[in-house]
Amino acid sequence: MQKMKQIGVGILGFGTVGAGVADGLLKHRDVMAKRLGVDIVLRKIVDLDITTDRGIQVPDGVLTTDAKGVLSDPEIDIVVETIGGTGVAKTFVLEALGNGKCVVTANKKLLAEHGREIFETAAKNDVDIYFGASVGGGIPIIRVLREGLAGNEIESIHGILNGTCNYILTRMENEGLPFESVLKDAQKLGYAEANPSLDIDGFDTAHKACILAALAYGFQPGVDQVQVEGIRNLDGADVKYAADFGYRIKLLAVVAKDGSEVEVGVHPTLIPFSHMLANVNDAFNAAYVKGDMSDYTMYYGRGAGRAPTASTVIGDIGDIARNLAYDETRYARGVPNYAEGKVRLRAAGDIRSKYYLRFMLADRPGAMGVVASALGKHGVSISALSQKESSEGNLPVPVVAMTRVARAADIDAALEEIKAAGVTGEDPVKLRVL
Ligand code: HSE
Repeated sequence: MQKMKQIGVGILGFGTVGAGVADGLLKHRDVMAKRLGVDIVLRKIVDLDITTDRGIQVPDGVLTTDAKGVLSDPEIDIVVETIGGTGVAKTFVLEALGNGKCVVTANKKLLAEHGREIFETAAKNDVDIYFGASVGGGIPIIRVLREGLAGNEIESIHGILNGTCNYILTRMENEGLPFESVLKDAQKLGYAEANPSLDIDGFDTAHKACILAALAYGFQPGVDQVQVEGIRNLDGADVKYAADFGYRIKLLAVVAKDGSEVEVGVHPTLIPFSHMLANVNDAFNAAYVKGDMSDYTMYYGRGAGRAPTASTVIGDIGDIARNLAYDETRYARGVPNYAEGKVRLRAAGDIRSKYYLRFMLADRPGAMGVVASALGKHGVSISALSQKESSEGNLPVPVVAMTRVARAADIDAALEEIKAAGVTGEDPVKLRVL
């Protein structure tokens, strides 16, 4: 029998994900060789700290602090970047591609901010870059878009893509807890990014949304171009009022196309209890994808954590290893197909959605009339309205209005008018409704 071809792997970064990848590659070497017909050999793991115990037994000679040596090692075909961030991670990824190595990364920030440069470098060097774990952790959603749904026009993707936020929102709703105390627990459980602002202010989700847009539409906006709302200022009262109306609030990424315009954004969004996305709880992620042929499909799983993220990284390594072992051409399959000039980002004001509006309304005659007439004047139709009876006069009372589909600019104009009329004690709350 012909000897099985060996493909060498070098991992940059021996942190949570790097250790998970090493563990999986060592544990499942035989089963992967049987499935893929190629022997994937972990040759090196690079980290500044190679003494701390990561809970796995690494063969002698694998651990090293010499990144440059790994990036130029002729026995290493695939470089796995699990360092994170956009500093040395970017330098090393570009150097690996330049040296003719294929790269696997889970680094969403790197791809969202420097994807074009990295993808172009991969294509120029005829090597591959796979980034399956950059969105959805253990859910192979990137592969679904690249392969399973390749025959579809993607009409929309709605995603719960940040485990930290979903964990916080689930506990705020179930236990009536305030945001701050739940955030601390999420950090203790290890879901949150090193800088929790990336999670709770929506940027981690936005990075992932921009990567999904590149795959779905060949159009990757900068994170600074898209609308990003996080959950930091979400009031527990709105979680409760939303529930009274039959909705659950989730931090939702939207990537959708309408004609030649693409909408990409991140918003806390009310989702009806009956919708599958409303039932994605705790640190779980999901992507709900509508293709013109497939119709709706949904992908659900763990969006973070050592083993789930490593599972997707290893899937990518396997795919590249098989390509390298069986294919003469090293054409960059993982690179998105950019469609320059064919689509553009939809202007924020033109986005259409149903809305949840909450006003703290002065308890006096005519106040409700101001709200209703301002919304009506700007063409916004109210589908439901609720005001709780106030026990004492003269205190602002919460009034919640659910609207029909409206343009964001019309909603904003109406809210400005309501604020100017002096009938609200504080700024109105505006949340999108799926
Ligand atoms: N901080 C991220 C999350 C990790 O909470 O989902 C995975 O990208």
